[in-house]
Amino acid sequence: MFVVRRLPPTTEAQLAARYDTELNPTDETCPLERLIAAASEFDAIVPTVVDDVPAAVFAAAPLRVRIVANFGVGFDRIALDAARSRGVVVTNTPGVLTEDTADLAMMLLLAAARRASEAERELRAGEWQGWRPTHMLGTRVNGATLGIVGFGRIGAAVARRAYRGFGMRVLFVNPSDPDASAVADAAAERCDSLEALLAQADFVSLHAPARPDTRRLLDASRIDLMRPGAILVNTARGDLIDERALATALESGALAAAGLDVFEREPVVSERLLMLRNVVLLPHIGSATVETRTAMAQLAVDNCLAILNGKRPLTPVPELTDLPVYS
Ligand code: DGY
Repeated sequence: MFVVRRLPPTTEAQLAARYDTELNPTDETCPLERLIAAASEFDAIVPTVVDDVPAAVFAAAPLRVRIVANFGVGFDRIALDAARSRGVVVTNTPGVLTEDTADLAMMLLLAAARRASEAERELRAGEWQGWRPTHMLGTRVNGATLGIVGFGRIGAAVARRAYRGFGMRVLFVNPSDPDASAVADAAAERCDSLEALLAQADFVSLHAPARPDTRRLLDASRIDLMRPGAILVNTARGDLIDERALATALESGALAAAGLDVFEREPVVSERLLMLRNVVLLPHIGSATVETRTAMAQLAVDNCLAILNGKRPLTPVPELTDLPVYS
């Protein structure tokens, strides 16, 4: 097995003890030439959501790799067509990161609404002048309307938290039929279009995958449709938002705030966002708990073992043609 990044220690110990494994103790980005060579040397490659696995990897000769087991749900950096054309199985790790990522989305929503980062920065800078009736006023969450873009596992888990924990009204858009019990659980109301959702929601939380049809789903014209003083949360992918348009809306006050865990050019974050006081910025830590990262590693390894033992993969990535299209 060729492992592209450092994994939780328990998984690395298990792999090192039982299999012919190359780990990555430095955690540095694997050069493309090494990845191509690994495709000739190993049966399985375990990349992560931030590693490119381009067609050149699947063109390696001879091609030994039989599975690319992505550590993470998003598989937008893997050349799926090239993998399929060479008979290489691609898997991901859905399900195990749902609850922690939903927690983080709620955390960003609350932090952005109640100006938590800004307030803490003021206090740490020694600028707090004491309690005053007009100090650091934020936006009320309880009873507000939350628009969920993408009602898959994570979107549904955020909806449940918002409705049950914070008394929010939940709206959503989803390109396919959502899980009916998840909809009922959050008394969620489906909108006919993204535009209709944006016009009604006080908070908008993104939970769509990165695909050609979701690139800049929130562009300048759609950001303009959001309610004055609305708050945007993104724990999905940076590609979903036109970051320049978002910065403009935050600078002008058209949007009250944003909470972002993902960015267009990670790990680079735009200077304009960094300068803004009304945006909470986190370094893509949605799934970063010991429990979830260990479970993700285990699922990636289990997928490898299934293929190497002639069984079906546990969680193959869906065919792109099977996926419904956002508009
Ligand atoms: C994923 O799995 O796609 C997440 O972004 C990792 O936290």
